[in-house]
Amino acid sequence: MSTLSVDLSGQVALVTGAGRGIGKAIARALAQSGAAVAVNDIDAASAGQAARELGDPARAFPADVSDPAAVERMIAAVVHEMGGLHILVNNAGIEYKTPILETPVEEWQETLAVNLSAAFYTCKAAGPIMRDAGGGVIVNIASIAGHNIPLPNRASYVASKAGLVGFTKECAREFAAYNIRVNAVCPGVIETEMTAESRSNPQQVARWLADIPQGRLGQPDDVAGLVLFLCSDGARYLTGQAINVDGGKVML
Ligand SMILES: NC(=O)c1ccc[n+]([C@@H]2O[C@H](COP(=O)([O-])OP(=O)(O)OC[C@H]3O[C@@H](n4cnc5c(N)ncnc54)[C@H](O)[C@@H]3O)[C@@H](O)[C@H]2O)c1
Repeated sequence: MSTLSVDLSGQVALVTGAGRGIGKAIARALAQSGAAVAVNDIDAASAGQAARELGDPARAFPADVSDPAAVERMIAAVVHEMGGLHILVNNAGIEYKTPILETPVEEWQETLAVNLSAAFYTCKAAGPIMRDAGGGVIVNIASIAGHNIPLPNRASYVASKAGLVGFTKECAREFAAYNIRVNAVCPGVIETEMTAESRSNPQQVARWLADIPQGRLGQPDDVAGLVLFLCSDGARYLTGQAINVDGGKVML
């Protein structure tokens, strides 16, 4: 539940990977602020369930965002069925934990495709729509790993998120001329399915907590609050940034 008061009525927001976890919390925060939310996920059932929970006018748009043709179809459908596209949140992500020497090429390529290339596909498709409508907001969900902070056995993930931070800045520079702001959000350790296995190890949790000044792991709503702010007019002079939301774990 977000405590920030933002009025997004009249705006259409697309959130990728919003069937669960951080994306679902972001979709909820945007909907509670008045946006009509397009809920994407590769898992059609969870996208449909999340859209039903949000209620009208939210709708599900299941698609694999690593497929450029599917992304083009999805964005055209969002504009056609929801009347526009003003906010895009690239949240869908995957993570493998494999040492480099054991990483299959397919695993590397899949991680880069979902975590990095998908943002290029969605921005390429959404950019002209936002430009022609007079502007928009894009938020890319990266990670503190995007600051080239090595995590054990996650080379493809770290590389994809560092790439996403770089792409965010490049996109912000080019899209500023169209009144489109582009920022990245870099979560620390957040309690979702993605971290469930690691969180089941008490020693791992203790190591994390020792390194987090605020003394707790993050919740999906902690990330959603920052995304909501970035989508608001309060962030109107803010673009090309990669902002950590991690309880103080990383201080740059
Ligand atoms: N949980 C964390 O600690 C953490 C930390 C830093 C960054 N992040 C990032 O936040 C984002 C959300 O993570 P989460 O923790 O909620 O993960 P999650 O695994 O709980 O949810 C990810 C969602 O993305 C969907 N998805 C996966 N591949 C997809 C595809 N090709 N097309 C469309 N949807 C797809 C999944 O079905 C799932 O619903 C990811 O980009 C992740 O890298 C998470």
